[in-house]
Amino acid sequence: MRTAVTGTWALTQLAVTRPAGHDRSMSLRILLRELPGLDRDALVAFDPASAPQDPAELFVSWLTLAAERQVPLPHAMNLATATGTGEVGARTVLLRNITAGSWIIATDARSPKAQAMTQNPMAALTSFWAPLGRQVRITGVVTDLGEEAGAADFLERHPGSRAAATTGVQSAPLDSLETYDRAYAEARDAVEKHPGRVPTTWRCYGIAATTVEFWAARPSGGQIRLRYTLEQTWQRGLVWP
Ligand SMILES: Cc1cc2nc3c(=O)[nH]c(=O)nc-3n(C[C@H](O)[C@H](O)[C@H](O)COP(=O)(O)O)c2cc1C
Repeated sequence: MRTAVTGTWALTQLAVTRPAGHDRSMSLRILLRELPGLDRDALVAFDPASAPQDPAELFVSWLTLAAERQVPLPHAMNLATATGTGEVGARTVLLRNITAGSWIIATDARSPKAQAMTQNPMAALTSFWAPLGRQVRITGVVTDLGEEAGAADFLERHPGSRAAATTGVQSAPLDSLETYDRAYAEARDAVEKHPGRVPTTWRCYGIAATTVEFWAARPSGGQIRLRYTLEQTWQRGLVWP
């Protein structure tokens, strides 16, 4: 198998044989092509014929396997949104729960992602568990689960997370790290002094899935894609990878 070490070697070789500006982009191209792919020997076979009726059930079983295999942050998902005028955005968030076909995430209602989801309640979530060679893509309809759900989520968080969530306004410009450090220290004090205090802007959003697609690299080579689509009930079928 090709390894990243080979890529490092290629970087060194190019550095001595080519002019500097040219080198960097050539070296990067070579490095990218030399990086190792999926480790097929570590993959777990997925049999789409035995997939459950409910995609949430399959998602939970894949997530659980990722957690058992100690994949770092297996609950981190990419959340993609688009504003009312079609401006797209994507970022990582942590999955908080799945209930009644909705994937729940939490954030500040003033954040750009929350604003986008309010203007345009369509969103997509993606999980990728590299050591398992698996990806899940979800698209769905967003619902703001309201102040009470946001408060319950906030109170389940450890003090550091509560302080981070109440330091400044997410995504607003910040003049310096000193300003941040001061605000974070004040937020930590406030959390300690008032452990039951909840910011009214903390919210949970449910993404009620309308499509859920599972992608698995196969130990024997190639891939499988199994797509669930919500009609009256969940329909599922293979698609070409
Ligand atoms: C691993 C990881 C987990 C994150 N989890 C959350 C989260 O659950 N909620 C959140 O608001 N931001 C989370 N963030 C920060 C977001 O990725 C993003 O930077 C921030 O929410 C601002 O996004 P926005 O400007 O699109 O609203 C996380 C970042 C990382 C790297």
